[in-house]
Amino acid sequence: NTSMQSTTGASGATKKKMNGYVGFSNYPNQEHRRSIKRGFNFTLMVAGESGLGKSTLINTLFESKVYPAKDENSHAAVGTPSAPGGTKTVEITSVSAEIVENNVKLRLSVVDTPGFGDSINNEQAWQPILENIESRFDAYLAQENRVNRSKIVDNRVNALLYFIKPTGHALRAIDIEFMKNLHNKVNLIPVIARADTLTAREVEQFKARVLADINFHGIQIFRPVSDQFDDPDTIADNKAIAGKIPFAVVGSERFVERADGTRVRGRQYPWGVIEVENEAHNDFVSLRQMLLRTHMEELRDATDVSLYETYRTQKLLALGHVQDNTVFREFNPRQQAEEEERVHAAKMQKLEAEMAAVFKQKVQEKEGKLRQSEEELHTRHKDMKAVLERQRAELEDKKRRLGISDTPHAMPVHAHAHAAQDVAQQQAQA
Ligand code: GTP
Repeated sequence: NTSMQSTTGASGATKKKMNGYVGFSNYPNQEHRRSIKRGFNFTLMVAGESGLGKSTLINTLFESKVYPAKDENSHAAVGTPSAPGGTKTVEITSVSAEIVENNVKLRLSVVDTPGFGDSINNEQAWQPILENIESRFDAYLAQENRVNRSKIVDNRVNALLYFIKPTGHALRAIDIEFMKNLHNKVNLIPVIARADTLTAREVEQFKARVLADINFHGIQIFRPVSDQFDDPDTIADNKAIAGKIPFAVVGSERFVERADGTRVRGRQYPWGVIEVENEAHNDFVSLRQMLLRTHMEELRDATDVSLYETYRTQKLLALGHVQDNTVFREFNPRQQAEEEERVHAAKMQKLEAEMAAVFKQKVQEKEGKLRQSEEELHTRHKDMKAVLERQRAELEDKKRRLGISDTPHAMPVHAHAHAAQDVAQQQAQA
């Protein structure tokens, strides 16, 4: 029997408390079954300088020849005595396989990228890899926007193993550039390649330096975390794995004989054997544990919820889509009135400002016009004055020529009459 108690929240929605078993706690099991039926996709990418053992590690990880065996003698040596080399990867290649383990179907894709570091210009070494990762996001986005979304193929890169050259010093500029340009597009997992070429002490020191450089340059790498549902053992395991980052790894496609006669995957040296799957020799086991056993779902989740989501938002905003930030609030009359009042006051203020601006403009126009007519008046006055001056000078000249003195009665009557007539005429003309 299921009994219910009702409470009504501030929003008006009714929350009901149920006593007794309803059955929805079985939901995780249903979800679990559905996931198993559907299967999982996981895409792993490797990148780094040429000859660092990327293809070899992939083959070692999946215990198969994902990539064809390389000719040990034709690859350029990478400066280590025990490293001859195989043929180079020249283009981005992707290999997919469907793996079934305990009825769980995993569609695994491994993407190998051409090594860099040996060309004249390595500055843009990250560019084709970034483009590949983004084009996979684009393909996913295009499928999401289709009318029928029932068969979405997810080829997004879930993790990128970045191979660091075992120099024993610090991260090189090319590593920093690479990681900085990719860290917000992919779960970055740094690995120190060919760890067998460094001593245990050198590995520890190099790891500390690499981590310090990563922190200094603000590079975001994938860090496995435990959640509240994990048991103490899992939490301890996760902590131990996280403490090994950057994983110092050794890869080998060959089996070598140990002192006790057993054959293991490893590398043979004159002084002994380095075992790939021996945790005392290198971090390969921890890397495999994190990637394929304990954190595959976390990597997939981080790709979907964080990396892809950020990419998608930026892409859509760039295409002109508007983010819908509408916040729905409960109706409150007082708040509504205050809001309206605020809007009205803002409107009035805007109107006032506009009116003041128009008034100012009109005054300026009027002042300008006044100034202009004043200047015109002034010019006319000057011109008239000049004309009168000229006429006066001409009259003076005439007077002089007619021999008229300045005293009026010394002038003959007829001459006086003529002169007066002349002046009157000229004044009339003026
Ligand atoms: P590109 O295809 O040019 O990018 O090279 P890559 O990084 O895929 O290297 P690859 O796996 O072809 O390995 C190059 C050479 O290094 C091969 O001869 C491998 O046997 C050797 N090698 C691979 N892993 C290791 C390792 O962990 N230690 C040592 N010493 N050599 C390794």
